[in-house]
Amino acid sequence: MKVLILYHSQSGNTKSFAEGIQSKLTALGHQTDCIQLQTASPVKHKSVREQQDIEITNLPDPQAYDMLLFGGPVWAFGPSPVIVEAIRKMDSLAGKTCLPFASMGLFCEKMGGTATLRYMSRELATKGAKVLPGAICKRMFHDPAAQIEKNSAKIVHTIT
Ligand SMILES: Cc1cc2nc3c(=O)[nH]c(=O)nc-3n(C[C@H](O)[C@H](O)[C@H](O)COP(=O)(O)O)c2cc1C
Repeated sequence: MKVLILYHSQSGNTKSFAEGIQSKLTALGHQTDCIQLQTASPVKHKSVREQQDIEITNLPDPQAYDMLLFGGPVWAFGPSPVIVEAIRKMDSLAGKTCLPFASMGLFCEKMGGTATLRYMSRELATKGAKVLPGAICKRMFHDPAAQIEKNSAKIVHTIT
C-alpha cells in the first residue's frame, strides 16, 4: 500500500507523531511519503474560524496514494488552519480512504482534540473521502514518546 502522511507542525510535535506512524508502516513493508506542509509566508497563530490567507507551496497529488493521513496541531480548540487549507485545496479525494491525526498540548481530548478530528473528518468527507477514525497525542501529564507509540500503533492497526 502506498500511504501519504501529510501534516502541519509548528514546533515539531506533530512531526514526531507523523514520523512515528511512518516508521511503523515502513516496518510493515508499506511505501510512505511523509510530507510537512510549507507555506509561502509565516502563518498567524489564529483559530481556523478566523479568516487568514494561507498559500501552501508543496501540496502533493492525492491520486498517487492508496491511503492518505492528514495531521496537525490543535489550535484554539480546533484544527490548525494550515491542514484545513491543505484539505480544501487538495484535488478530489473521491474513492480515497483518509484518516485525521492531531497533537495537542492539554491533557484531555475534550480540550480541543476531539473537535479537531471531527472538523478535519468533516472537511475530508466534503472532498469525497471515506474517513476512518483518527488518533490524538496529548502532552500535558503524558509521556510524549509513549503517546506517539500508542497512537501510531492505533492508526496503523486501523488502516492495515
Ligand atoms: C496558537 C495555539 C493554540 C493552541 N491551542 C490549543 C488548544 O486549544 N488545546 C490544546 O490542547 N493545545 C493547544 N495548543 C498546543 C498545541 O496543540 C500543541 O503544543 C501541539 O502539540 C503543537 O504541535 P506542533 O509542535 O506540531 O506545532 C495550541 C498551540 C498554539 C500555538
